[in-house]
Amino acid sequence: MVSGLLSRCRATVAATAAAGLGVLGGLGVAPAAVAQRSVPPPGTRILEPSAQRPGDAARGWDYLVYGDYVSSGVPLEVFRKAAGASDLDLGRSGSAQGLLYRFNAVRTAEGVEVAAPNCLTCHAETISGRLVVGLGNNSDDHTSHQASAVAAAGLATLLQFGAESPEVKAYRPIQQSHQAIGPFITTRVRGVNPADKIFAALAARRNAEDLRWLDKNQFDVPVETVPTDVPAWWLMKKKNALYYIGLGRGDFARLSSASGMLTLRDSAEAARIDTRFPDVMAWIRTLEPPPYPHPIDAGLAARGRVTFEKRCAKCHGTYSERETYPNLLVALETIGTDPLLARSYASRPEYHTWYNRSWYGQAPHAGRLEPTDGYVAPPLDGIWATAPYLHNGSVPTLEDLLDSGQRPSLWQRDFTNSAYDEKKGGWKYETRAAVEPGDRVTYDTTQPGYGNGGHEFGDDLDAAERAELIEYLKTL
Ligand code: HEC
Ligand code: HEC
Repeated sequence: MVSGLLSRCRATVAATAAAGLGVLGGLGVAPAAVAQRSVPPPGTRILEPSAQRPGDAARGWDYLVYGDYVSSGVPLEVFRKAAGASDLDLGRSGSAQGLLYRFNAVRTAEGVEVAAPNCLTCHAETISGRLVVGLGNNSDDHTSHQASAVAAAGLATLLQFGAESPEVKAYRPIQQSHQAIGPFITTRVRGVNPADKIFAALAARRNAEDLRWLDKNQFDVPVETVPTDVPAWWLMKKKNALYYIGLGRGDFARLSSASGMLTLRDSAEAARIDTRFPDVMAWIRTLEPPPYPHPIDAGLAARGRVTFEKRCAKCHGTYSERETYPNLLVALETIGTDPLLARSYASRPEYHTWYNRSWYGQAPHAGRLEPTDGYVAPPLDGIWATAPYLHNGSVPTLEDLLDSGQRPSLWQRDFTNSAYDEKKGGWKYETRAAVEPGDRVTYDTTQPGYGNGGHEFGDDLDAAERAELIEYLKTL
């Protein structure tokens, strides 16, 4: 909660800064475009910026945690009875007071107040004992689909209010979408996220032009989910393209507003949500990473910086007096990390084809999904806090990332009592010899999409150089 309040203050203070960014956006130049232009290293290409709408950060925070971009949910009365009050309510007021940070209190078209899931379900997480808004969730369990919880809330609503009640109608859109997408969005292990697949599965159920709900899938949705590790929001301000493979082009607000697809009735509702999202983007652009909370050895870190600037900066940018970020997409053959996320878009064109011709892909402020054959070399700000590493969260620590031979094949962290490993930089973990059936906490890197290979750029460092580099990474 402390951090929620902190973020809130920052949002207000940073509104002026955001207005500055807004001016750039208005001129059609994304802030990241200011970075120096140079010849991209072999096996990489530069992702060019696109025009962004300006927004008001303080209003964006308000919409994020009070807004109705998800417009259906469990009636507040039912929700409060089942869940009780939470301290982690982001210091919100009114109906949202005491409501867990993952939900907004929203009034639906029927006039019913409901608890509707918000972006922080996936884009907030606890580390070192505090909730950090913008840190990607790395602990939720998506291994089984939530049909039973959804059905239980539905039944409670039905029993309390009756089948024809506004309360039951207010709950129906979210119940219906959960039932439709549930079977398609399960992961093999706890901690990784199925968001890409949520959108593909929702798209299969929505008419492209007016976004109305369809009773059956209009295209085939594969059952397999490619896992991702939710990226930190504070990186977005440097990026020219969203998502791990640089898929998200055009207007970032339009792209991000697609969360509304969970519950919206039609494209008129999507248009109303869309007008508020430039503010949400402006707020996200004000976010800074949390500082490393343990001591840092400045001498080691200074030596690590030299190594970083020699070997890593060409892809990941520089973090000193003059910050640069080259916005590079690195080809699959060059990076060598698990290719399935990138390849799944090429082999399954239905979703991005749907998106680009849908309401979301229309001018002005169109979003576009452009699959690529590589991964974005991300900014490394706050990298200490964002374990596990790589797009699929397959590597538990920085030390393992920088020594590919040392990466554990089957590993397990303690989710109930996550302990930070200061030496390795990341999660403390144990290795396993085998995965028993029903084990949902051991990360099995031999599964498709879950591979931990590639990114061998730290392999030829000696142990001392690697330790210096990790120390430097903690300062970012
Ligand atoms: C179910 C979990 C989930 C929810 C809910 C969710 N996101 Fe995300 N978000 C993700 C994941 C996972 C990714 C990374 C996907 C990828 O790159 O393939 C992501 C990526 C993003 C990115 C791009 C970040 C980058 O650096 O490329 C933005 C911006 C974003 N989300 C904004 C939002 C907003 C705003 C909301 C609420 C309206 C939201 N998200 C709701 C899981 C979620
Ligand atoms: C040729 C470009 C390139 C070079 C050189 C490079 N990286 Fe990377 N790095 C990438 C790409 C691309 C990814 C994302 C790969 C993925 O997620 O599959 C990545 C991912 C990472 C990550 C994980 C990010 C996260 O949030 O999970 C870290 C940490 C990292 N690199 C550090 C380094 C360090 C330290 C060096 C220098 C020793 C280095 N990289 C050199 C391209 C590069």
